[in-house]
Amino acid sequence: MITALKFTLLLLALAFAQGLHYNYIDELDKEAGTVRAVQASQYVSLWPLPQKVKILDLSFKLTSFNIVDAKESSAGSSCSLLQDAYRRYYEYMFGIAKRQGPRKSRLTGPSELTELQVWITSPDSECDGYPSVTSDESYELSVDLPYAVLKAPKVWGALHGLETFSQLVYEDQYGAKSINSTAISDFPRFAHRGILLDSSRHFLPLKVILANLETMAMNKFNVFHWHIVDDQSFPYLSRTFPQLSQQGAYHPYTHVYTPADVKMVIEFGRLRGIRVVPEFDTPGHTQSWGKGQKDLLTPCYSGSKPSGSFGPVNPILNTTYDFMSQFFKEISTVFPDAYVHLGGDEVDFTCWKSNPDIQKFMDQQGYGQDYKKLESFYIQKLLDIVTTTHKGYMIWQEVFDNGVKLKPDTLIHVWKGNQEQYQSEMANVTSAGYKTLLSTPWYLNRISYGQDWHGHYKADPQDFNGTEEQKKLVIGGEACLWGEYVDATNLTPRLWPRASAVAERLWSAKDVTDINDAFNRLSVHRCRMVARGIPAEPLFSSYCPREYKGI
Ligand SMILES: *[C@@H]1O[C@H](CO)[C@@H](O)[C@H](O)[C@H]1NC(C)=O
Ligand SMILES: *[C@@H]1O[C@H](CO)[C@@H](O)[C@H](O)[C@H]1NC(C)=O
Ligand SMILES: *[C@@H]1O[C@H](CO)[C@@H](O)[C@H](O)[C@H]1NC(C)=O
Ligand SMILES: *[C@@H]1O[C@H](CO)[C@@H](O)[C@H](O)[C@H]1NC(C)=O
Repeated sequence: MITALKFTLLLLALAFAQGLHYNYIDELDKEAGTVRAVQASQYVSLWPLPQKVKILDLSFKLTSFNIVDAKESSAGSSCSLLQDAYRRYYEYMFGIAKRQGPRKSRLTGPSELTELQVWITSPDSECDGYPSVTSDESYELSVDLPYAVLKAPKVWGALHGLETFSQLVYEDQYGAKSINSTAISDFPRFAHRGILLDSSRHFLPLKVILANLETMAMNKFNVFHWHIVDDQSFPYLSRTFPQLSQQGAYHPYTHVYTPADVKMVIEFGRLRGIRVVPEFDTPGHTQSWGKGQKDLLTPCYSGSKPSGSFGPVNPILNTTYDFMSQFFKEISTVFPDAYVHLGGDEVDFTCWKSNPDIQKFMDQQGYGQDYKKLESFYIQKLLDIVTTTHKGYMIWQEVFDNGVKLKPDTLIHVWKGNQEQYQSEMANVTSAGYKTLLSTPWYLNRISYGQDWHGHYKADPQDFNGTEEQKKLVIGGEACLWGEYVDATNLTPRLWPRASAVAERLWSAKDVTDINDAFNRLSVHRCRMVARGIPAEPLFSSYCPREYKGI
């Protein structure tokens, strides 16, 4: 654990030693406002910033401390989700110090805080359930004598409250764990706060996925959007169609997610209040599907003969829909979340255009040369299939743009264009009455020199021309890390702490926009992630009290 105070003291000492000549000012970084050293924020290291915080000038020592269930709590010792979380956070707060042996403050006097009582207030704690888009994630934290109290209607709020509590703990100048008297009342601004990882361009070992779920919890993200398959590979091992990964994965045994792997990801996420929404993108982005499923893809033609290459899913065969019915029936039982992401982006019409059977079908249907109509024909049938599995669906914006008829509860995922275009899209989608979430400004796979988190931090999904009713249809956003140039070697440092900027935008109040205060808190938060073993990259020239020690 980091200590904001010690950190600041060290910085000050360093500054004096150098005659206030900060050598961490990097001349190369010309971005206005970035050339500065970390200073203490009045909110210390809280990230994302809670809705309401009051920290007093009164500190307590934590020499012998426990996290326990409040007597009144509706989730007792039988709630393993909470017991697991207590252990996890105890380790984060005291694990390192414990290994180094107990360090007692040389000062006597300050009062001791001995307990955090966790009180789930609603009769149904949801301990054994799955989080959902309507989950209550709120909590209230009071750090005071005789004991601290964390109150939450459901376990989901308690998980967030434990993270917040752990962020308040610091080491005093003698290395003793301390916490100030604090009152916090907190809830997320948006219900859907996601991270997209792509396990198709590169296979991501389970360990890396789990480490990122853990880091998501440190940032109060609550949706793992698993872009599990794509053109490049099909690592999802389907029980119904095992040949899909047999033929379509990079390797049929070492580069696949078995049913047990998928289960583990879902449960690991659940224990951290994180939903797992899988994406099976069709009809484009499906080259890898074609390897294990004969006749699924459209044969492309060169002149009057098949060229040997294949295009998007073949929308004119009944067998296509038989396959999709069986496939999505499986998906609906494997993934407990109420939503599945059906993709629908970037369909290339060239192959469809080349194929004479498709031409004939287009004529029969009276589509002329409008291939968007053919795409809509396919998507419409797919949506009907998924509806029969009792799942809701998310789709990329093209499906809306192409005028496909959608169920009213469809979530439209906006990802295209520049700021003006995505704001116009958000206005259009919400004026049509659909719920939406934003990713355009948060394609974290795009990297550049300097502090690009500023741009991620400033983007606001509700900044578009629309009524209050329209703004309410924005359920949140997702930071995306597409996998062309990303695998287990660089995923985590590329994602963190840049995604943390998105985390605060989606959790904290709309008016939390002070980039300098954000820099100060995020610097300490980043060092905290490092101290917890996460190789989160630096924001700028600086150091951490506990540096990353490599693997
Ligand atoms: C915590 O309390 C101490 C006094 O014990 C005070 O010096 C310090 O400024 C407080 N920290 C915050 C963030 O208010
Ligand atoms: C495909 O299904 C439709 C509707 O069930 C049916 O009318 C049509 O004959 C089928 N086509 C083939 C080639 O089996
Ligand atoms: C939103 O709708 C307007 C009016 O139909 C249209 O002109 C504009 O291009 C649309 N915006 C986007 C991003 O498609
Ligand atoms: C809102 O509309 C006004 C006037 O049409 C325009 O000047 C402004 O740029 C728009 N703002 C956004 C965020 O689209």
